[in-house]
Amino acid sequence: MRVLGIESSCDETAAAVVASSSQQGLKLLSNSVASSVDLHKAYGGVVPEIAARSHLESILPVIEDAMEVAEAGWDDIDAIAVTVGPGLSGSLLIGSLTARTLAIAKNKPLFPVNHVEAHIYAAFLTKQGAHLSTTYELPATAPKFPILALIVSGGHTQLVLFKNHFRYKVLGRTLDDAVGEAFDKVAKVLGLPYPGGPSVSEAAQKGNPGFVKLPSAKLKESDDFSYSGLKTAVLRRAQEVVGKDYTFPSHQIADLLTDEQRNNLAATFQKTAIESLITGLKLALDKHKPKSIVIAGGVAANGLLRQLAKENFSPTPIFPDIKLCVDNGAMIAANGFFQLKLGCQTADPYSLEIDPQLSMLA
Ligand code: KG4
Ligand code: ZN
Repeated sequence: MRVLGIESSCDETAAAVVASSSQQGLKLLSNSVASSVDLHKAYGGVVPEIAARSHLESILPVIEDAMEVAEAGWDDIDAIAVTVGPGLSGSLLIGSLTARTLAIAKNKPLFPVNHVEAHIYAAFLTKQGAHLSTTYELPATAPKFPILALIVSGGHTQLVLFKNHFRYKVLGRTLDDAVGEAFDKVAKVLGLPYPGGPSVSEAAQKGNPGFVKLPSAKLKESDDFSYSGLKTAVLRRAQEVVGKDYTFPSHQIADLLTDEQRNNLAATFQKTAIESLITGLKLALDKHKPKSIVIAGGVAANGLLRQLAKENFSPTPIFPDIKLCVDNGAMIAANGFFQLKLGCQTADPYSLEIDPQLSMLA
């Protein structure tokens, strides 16, 4: 069985083909991505109109590339899976309309995919027999249920217990900013380039993580997180460090910071942001005793998170390859694959709607 996955919820236009393997996991046959991230850099964040226009230009070449690399013709494709939410409406529409059109024209079953849920499905792509196994670091075996999943991206911070495919419970989540969003916003204050995750963690390597005291983003009274308070605390410390009070405009701080102060603030923020995730994960792990731990989403590319999670937890957490942590079509195809395999309800290609606010909460 082969499934084509299409993703266009934010600034990556992506398509991929996955296939069944004799083991529990899936084979990654292709994974094509066109990112408009460079176009958004000048604005310090994703501009929805630019993202949508860029999806329009890239979607067909990306799908063609994914089919070609997979050496698949339309007769080889058993189903099409597409992200229907959450995400930017203009962006979601391009992927979903393309998938609907292909499903009608090529007469294929169509499966709607929740983008956040799908991040975890990147972990089901295993080494076994994969075409792309030389350029991707893939796990030897697929995760086993129950899976404790930490989904950390620019839009989401969620701890989820998967009892089985599509049967899960959200244990904790952010009540405001997502952790990746906090990295992006802190980068802006410190004058580091967008996206903030890689630039903050690079600066952090040169800084002192014990520079100032910052509040944990893990809430004490619940299993939830709050990254907005941590982000504001970084802003206040930065204002203090440059000798100003809380009324000083955030966009003028970067010019006054020395490299040493910038690196120290980045290191302290990163340590606090990541340790908050580790604390939340540890509590959930003790309580639920999962067979596997999966950490996925853009922030799963973070080196400190990878290091602390591997040092502190058993079973050893599974991190998908970094190329499969950021938005991609393979995770969408993998999620669609299990919908097909388990006989889930297909979508009507004539009426499938996007849902920009789609949530994992029941
Ligand atoms: O999953 P993703 O590509 O898109 C969303 O679904 O949001 O995640 C993008 C997020 C951005 O906020 C980016 O700053 C963050 O992932 N990110 C990182 C790192 N690399 C990317 N955050 C922390 N450390 C990194 N190394
Ligand atoms: Zn994502």
